[in-house]
Amino acid sequence: MPMPPLSRAPLSGSAAFFAVEYDPADAVLWLLDQRLLPGEERYVPHRTVDEAAHAIRAMVVRGAPAIGITAAYALAQRAALETGPAASFLMAMGISGRGLDATRPTAVNLGWAIARMARKAADVAALDPGARARAMLAEAEAVHREDVAACRAMGALGAADVPEGATVMTHCNAGALATGGYGTALGVIRAAHAAGKIRRVLACETRPYLQGARLTSFELSRDGIPVEVVTDSMAGWFMARGEVQFVVVGADRVAANGDVANKIGTYGLAVLAHAHGVPFTVAAPWSTVDLRCPDGRSIPIEERSRDEVATLGGVTLVADGIPCRHPAFDVTPARLVGALYTERGALRPAEGEGPAAFLARTRRAP
Ligand code: MRU
Repeated sequence: MPMPPLSRAPLSGSAAFFAVEYDPADAVLWLLDQRLLPGEERYVPHRTVDEAAHAIRAMVVRGAPAIGITAAYALAQRAALETGPAASFLMAMGISGRGLDATRPTAVNLGWAIARMARKAADVAALDPGARARAMLAEAEAVHREDVAACRAMGALGAADVPEGATVMTHCNAGALATGGYGTALGVIRAAHAAGKIRRVLACETRPYLQGARLTSFELSRDGIPVEVVTDSMAGWFMARGEVQFVVVGADRVAANGDVANKIGTYGLAVLAHAHGVPFTVAAPWSTVDLRCPDGRSIPIEERSRDEVATLGGVTLVADGIPCRHPAFDVTPARLVGALYTERGALRPAEGEGPAAFLARTRRAP
């Protein structure tokens, strides 16, 4: 199915595909069902908070910024239905926000977007229902637009560090499919490719959910960026052969000290990069920074179902009854993170500059 006809230009900025868009003309939240990629491109309309929450939990939409944007639009959609007084409007926003927040625990962008919408709801609760709904939608659109702008800013910063003619390795999918558009790690790769610096991208397949094999290869090849898929187990070998000059990944939560939670397998890649002297870098918007987490030990790690490990495409890999472990994310310590590219600037966690130290140095508001 091609992209649905929207009543306005997509905020993602892409004419090829998007993860999430809202059409204000008919109050529909459109999500690309990423579970079906790359075999089928199916855009699914979502009309309620429950539908959006299910889509996040089931990974129809995934990637830290994209699930935050989805929640913001779902709350705007819900706000438009609420015609009662301020108290019932705020109660509806609170219940809906808690339902959305309970879907996935690790990516802080989800809770960040819900908290931002809650603040807006408190500001506008006393307005008439029409004005209140318009303000909530404008806030959700701002969350979306700002994310795309942040991706472009961190992309330009990261691209400056990519060596000429580099083979760049990435993990999971931190691209347009995982964000409002353009991507974080893939934003760095897109910007470096536009500058003529990229020889090729090695996309780690990312067991067990295969975001690298299914999604990163899909979106890079759509953009004409040379990409090869490798199994996660091949990463060290390619580094040992000198075939990788730069690693860039995304993040689901960055602690105050610069520890980074990202898709399971990221930590192993960082250790390998360190052992082989390959720069290991992370790209993430400031909405992924969680100053309430002093370090990675306080980041909640999602445990997903056994079946995502024990089966692949409906084929059983592990006999019934044998337990499997499935932490969906891991934490890479700050000392292994050479650079963290954000829309506020490049931080150097391995040199002791995590987000808290960066804020202290630049005297920026949290
Ligand atoms: O489980 P997922 O697919 O939602 O995990 C996504 C990742 O780990 C991404 O690397 C991260 O969210 C950054 S997306 C810009």
